[in-house]
Amino acid sequence: MSGNKNLHDAMKAKQDEFYTQKADIERELVHYKTHFKDKIVYCNCDDPKDGPNASEFWQFFVRNFNDWQLKKLIATHYEPDETTFSYKIETGPDKNGQFNMFNYTAKKRAIKSNGDFRSQPCVNLLKQADIIVTNPPFSLFREYVAQLMKYNKKFVIIGPRNAITYKEIFPLISSNKIWLGYGFKNSDAYFRIDEKNAAKYAAGVYNPETGFVHFRNCTWFTNLDINKRHEPIDLRGHYSYYENPERYPKYDNYNAIEVSKVDDIPYDYDGVMGVPITFMDKYCPEQFEIVGLDRYTVPREFLVGGRVAINGKPRYARILIRRRESTGG
Ligand SMILES: C[S@@+](CC[C@H](N)C(=O)[O-])C[C@H]1O[C@@H](n2cnc3c(N)ncnc32)[C@H](O)[C@@H]1O
Repeated sequence: MSGNKNLHDAMKAKQDEFYTQKADIERELVHYKTHFKDKIVYCNCDDPKDGPNASEFWQFFVRNFNDWQLKKLIATHYEPDETTFSYKIETGPDKNGQFNMFNYTAKKRAIKSNGDFRSQPCVNLLKQADIIVTNPPFSLFREYVAQLMKYNKKFVIIGPRNAITYKEIFPLISSNKIWLGYGFKNSDAYFRIDEKNAAKYAAGVYNPETGFVHFRNCTWFTNLDINKRHEPIDLRGHYSYYENPERYPKYDNYNAIEVSKVDDIPYDYDGVMGVPITFMDKYCPEQFEIVGLDRYTVPREFLVGGRVAINGKPRYARILIRRRESTGG
């Protein structure tokens, strides 16, 4: 079974218990450091206790609390059938104006909730926070993001790549309110799971030797500005549309050309192009405008299997894009 299929099954089965690795968190968050000075960080799906499932997000921010000059770190975790706790580390400059976080102790306080991110005690903590960082339950991803947007929070979170196409999420992407982070190495995400849940994953996806499951379809979502977002795709060395029109067929049901690989975006085409959703990894809003997503843009009566089509055959999901500046082509 593929990593993608497994992720889909995990979401359907509400299998939300998999844990992010230290190395993946470090690799992503290193790009965001400047945003964190004097900020209150809240990890709202994270168990900060010591133990096998202790959150690496919490531990990352504890380790970097001083260096990143955080103001406060908060975590809560979910216990479906019990009330739970919030954990907080607070500091500020000492009398010499220095941050002092040596021998920190996290204040543990009971909260009147099971730690559900939607519960009032957790919403109250969310309201205090500046930046939310976690890997939330994928089965609740839509609601999770809606809550962040409602309270106007900055965030760096992991989610299913396919969420790009969700009707609740795509408008946020196309209007540049949220975007993708740097992502997992080679798009391969390995998460630790509890051995007791191993049977819920297909053979070949859970590796009993490492204790990890492998998902190919996960990525990072954020609304914090990162350099990557302003790096245009280098189109030098790409094909010319006008010299190779046969490479770029027009859709039957929408006035745009099909570009089946991001690396094939022609350097000289100014009209609308349909590209795979992997484009979002390289999207630079100064270079391209997002016109829409096939199934939300093409009039319903023209869609073929919910998609743009060529010779009657639907393509995979396509993001419709257009260059911001004319190539003069
Ligand atoms: C994908 S796991 C990630 C755990 C941890 N954030 C990490 O990255 O290692 C999602 C976590 O969200 C928790 N969770 C599930 N439903 C929740 C809810 N309604 N509110 C808060 N947390 C929830 C699960 O118990 C699970 O530990």
